[in-house]
Amino acid sequence: MPISDTTRGLLAEVAAAVRLQEGPEGVAHVIRLVGSSGKLPLRDVARAARLPVPVLAAMRRELEARGVLERGGGLSLSLLGMEMLNELGGPWVAATCPRCEGSGVDVPDRYHAVLHALERLWEGRPEVDVRLDQSFTLPLSNLRRCLYALDRGALLGKRVLFIGDDDAGSLAVALLARELGASLSVAALDVDDRVLEYIASSAEREGVSVELIKHDVRTPLPPERRGAYDTVFTDPPYTLPGLELFLSRALEATGSAGGAQVYLSFGRRPPGEAVRVVGLLVRMGLALGALTPGFNRYEGASVLGGTSDLYHLLVTTEASPTVHGAQEGGIYTAELRPHKREYVCRTCQSSYKIGPGRKWETIEMLKRAGCPKCGGHTFEQRRKYPTGRAG
Ligand SMILES: C[S@@+](CC[C@H](N)C(=O)[O-])C[C@H]1O[C@@H](n2cnc3c(N)ncnc32)[C@H](O)[C@@H]1O
Repeated sequence: MPISDTTRGLLAEVAAAVRLQEGPEGVAHVIRLVGSSGKLPLRDVARAARLPVPVLAAMRRELEARGVLERGGGLSLSLLGMEMLNELGGPWVAATCPRCEGSGVDVPDRYHAVLHALERLWEGRPEVDVRLDQSFTLPLSNLRRCLYALDRGALLGKRVLFIGDDDAGSLAVALLARELGASLSVAALDVDDRVLEYIASSAEREGVSVELIKHDVRTPLPPERRGAYDTVFTDPPYTLPGLELFLSRALEATGSAGGAQVYLSFGRRPPGEAVRVVGLLVRMGLALGALTPGFNRYEGASVLGGTSDLYHLLVTTEASPTVHGAQEGGIYTAELRPHKREYVCRTCQSSYKIGPGRKWETIEMLKRAGCPKCGGHTFEQRRKYPTGRAG
């Protein structure tokens, strides 16, 4: 059945209203997803559609206003929405493996003790610092990423470095090595003392060893760290300059003798930006071993849709950093897309602006301090994130 002009017009209008970089097809995809899954919470649809939660929330409002979605909890199609779904090709039955959630990694019984340790330790993690683009990978996701690298010969007998380790991936590697009675060395590098302290105290509790390196990657790695690692894991800030900087430091760490591997976690980008990511990898001499969409699952991270992709990168003999010396420009989302948000105290309705240059840079800071008028600690956001994404 050809798609009618009315449907085409509606898809284009919604895409324009939410400034969706995927265009009308991105809206059609959401309609197909909702129609294929029945009623689903917003977060689940965002994850499946791989869209930031605030973008999907804005799209939902537009689709509700046009009568395509029912109003109420969860997303579901109205009668009009179902007619539209049929025009768009109809529903399908999802075929992604529910056991591994598309990661391609199963967790054998042998590793369950490691998973349980990570779950226990997870409780003690520090609060996220959104100024550094932090967000925590769930323990199962953390372990899967290590097992993925284990299967690719990147851990046993290797010198492993995590550049930016709020996920405590280094702990997962150390616990895994102990479980296997394997020898390897693992280090965690981070600028955030709280992250390093958390890894240190957790490692001590579990009786495993992780080397800790306090360093700000906006300056190059110290000489003794260059060419000193076989495997690097890195989760850069969610911007292209952040990606380029962290990958450059990863290449400083491996050198370019060849044979080293880099495991990069990075949020999905809309197609126009994704092509720049691939261009950057090529310029840096990094071959793409594999790309697993949605591999990492996060607590929160609504801007990422709660997931990020895992890139398995092979360091070629032509590899070379593209950032030399100190980083001049900004790398964090808050620097490149500063946005001021307004929160309202649920108790006394006083409103506060949050963002760079304000008294409270993040909502976590306001919650900790409490409402200056009534001391309340719960707030509701008045204005949402802008619908564009950092890049
Ligand atoms: C974007 S967060 C990672 C978020 C999330 N775990 C992920 O997988 O996407 C970046 C990590 O690098 C650290 N980090 C941020 N800026 C840094 C800097 N200038 N130097 C060193 N580490 C930094 C953060 O503390 C955090 O551990």
